[in-house]
Amino acid sequence: MKIINTIKNTKEYLKNIRLQNLSIGFVPTMGALHEGHLELIRKAKNENDFVVCSIFVNPIQFNNREDLEKYPGILENDISELEKTGCDLLFSPSVKEMYPAPVKTKYDFGDLEKVMEGKHRPGHFNGVAIVVKKLFEIIKPDKSYFGEKDYQQLVIIQALVKKYNIPVEIVPCATVREPDGLAKSSRNKRLTPEERKIAPVIYQILKEVKNKAGKTPINELNKWVEQQINNYKGMKLEYFEIVNKKTLQPIESWENKDCIVCIALFLGKVRLIDNIILF
Ligand code: PAJ
Repeated sequence: MKIINTIKNTKEYLKNIRLQNLSIGFVPTMGALHEGHLELIRKAKNENDFVVCSIFVNPIQFNNREDLEKYPGILENDISELEKTGCDLLFSPSVKEMYPAPVKTKYDFGDLEKVMEGKHRPGHFNGVAIVVKKLFEIIKPDKSYFGEKDYQQLVIIQALVKKYNIPVEIVPCATVREPDGLAKSSRNKRLTPEERKIAPVIYQILKEVKNKAGKTPINELNKWVEQQINNYKGMKLEYFEIVNKKTLQPIESWENKDCIVCIALFLGKVRLIDNIILF
């Protein structure tokens, strides 16, 4: 696997790949790679001739300084996992390389960014959009892969690509879970052993919501989830929303098909998100 840290060299290298008529699949990440990320790489490998992964801990998408400081740095393990998975090129730029000067761009995603993660993490999606747009301009991929684990991010990236006519196909990838149902995340390592033991209830609750969907009134379901979460010591619900899959706006009745349930909560000091597609 080739590893490049500069924009100029990456562009040059990929120009040559394109001259050979090879299709490029791209997986942007922030490192600390786990099976969730590696599934994206595998899918990209299946569908493209050449696979690029980026590892860049994007400082401007962190609204919480402690989160940024605690983010694991680039690990030797990431490189060896990428090699084993068949990634062809790793682009891992420094912050200076990506942002030689402060970026002031403000994107407007309308109502899509006013709910859930956008509401609770001000500026987060603006930072994500800035870095992903810049990465697309450098890599110019044919296809790019995003996890449904971060469902709102996926919808925002689809909106970004549409708005700016970026010629890339966005490929959604199903959430990869631990055997006990907990969605894989680099944050899981920050849970204490006791917290880790109760963490799978998040997915159990989501599955139960899916069972009750269409039968139990929405406001009752909201209350039920709140009660369930409050039953567990150390769990604090931030939001629970049943929203339309495309508009991300809360649904008011079960007549509204195509919806997804999204949840964010604190387990001790660790903020976790998850979701389940209903219909
Ligand atoms: P990061 O959290 O490293 O995630 C990189 C990609 O892996 C995202 O598309 C995310 O949705 C996906 N992913 C993470 N956990 C997953 C899981 N359990 N199953 C399936 N996919 C999973 O998301 C980011 O980085 C950043 O915001 C980024 C897009 C790289 C921009 O900085």
